[in-house]
Amino acid sequence: MSATATSLRDRFETDGYVFPHDAIGPAEAEQALAECRTYLRAVNSVGGTLARYATFPKIHLVTNWADRIVHHPVILDVVESLIGPDLMVWSTNLFTRPAHSGSSLAWHQDAIYLGLEGYQENAVRVWVALTDTTVANGTMRYSRGSHAQGAVNHRWGGTGMEDIMRGEEVAVDVDESSSVPVVLTAGQCSLHHLAMVHCSGPNVTDQGRFNLAIDYVNPQVRPSSGEDSALTVRGKGSGGFLPEARPASDFHPDAVRQLYAATARRQARIDQTVRLRTTT
Ligand code: NI
Repeated sequence: MSATATSLRDRFETDGYVFPHDAIGPAEAEQALAECRTYLRAVNSVGGTLARYATFPKIHLVTNWADRIVHHPVILDVVESLIGPDLMVWSTNLFTRPAHSGSSLAWHQDAIYLGLEGYQENAVRVWVALTDTTVANGTMRYSRGSHAQGAVNHRWGGTGMEDIMRGEEVAVDVDESSSVPVVLTAGQCSLHHLAMVHCSGPNVTDQGRFNLAIDYVNPQVRPSSGEDSALTVRGKGSGGFLPEARPASDFHPDAVRQLYAATARRQARIDQTVRLRTTT
């Protein structure tokens, strides 16, 4: 492994994140953003399952712009330097914060509701900036080193996935002096551990903020219960995940059928994980 890769991994292990990392570059980010806006208009006009799952958890299974990003060689190289050569994409999430949106997310960890085992050394979330991300447009903040404590108890107010994805109902206590804003230019990315404690703020600017988050896992990661699936993007897949296929084109009928099956499996696992967390 190169000296650069070793230092990246050391920083990731110590801080729980690495950024900024040059990923798809500004031109590809601009192109992807245009296609992303077209995609959102299309799914919202169609409605139904496509609209319900417009922003998570499997965008890359139905759209070429997201498929292209999850296969981007620069991203795969940096992910490989952190978790090894066998890589699957388990999930994609589109995080948008519209202009003048007062929404914010309380400090939380994603790992507690993902329902994955073995993620500690074997998974990473890549947060790709499709627009610049700044403190003013409510970028994510990390609590440096917070991944080292593992999964911690959260205060849960809501009972559904919507409450959790929205975040206001889920919170952990954080020493504000550990807070690090994830400032990126369009085309850069940040990488973080799934137990990283993070939050985000309101957008007080005139422009929307768009980020695509990609969860990469290696075959050491397994679903904690039930059936799940993942897309092998480099080396070998499995870990008990059923295989997924790339979309032949935007909204190809086979791709849409696959999305329906994959989101149904995922939703069943989310419901189970949330139920366990909120009733114990
Ligand atoms: Ni989160």
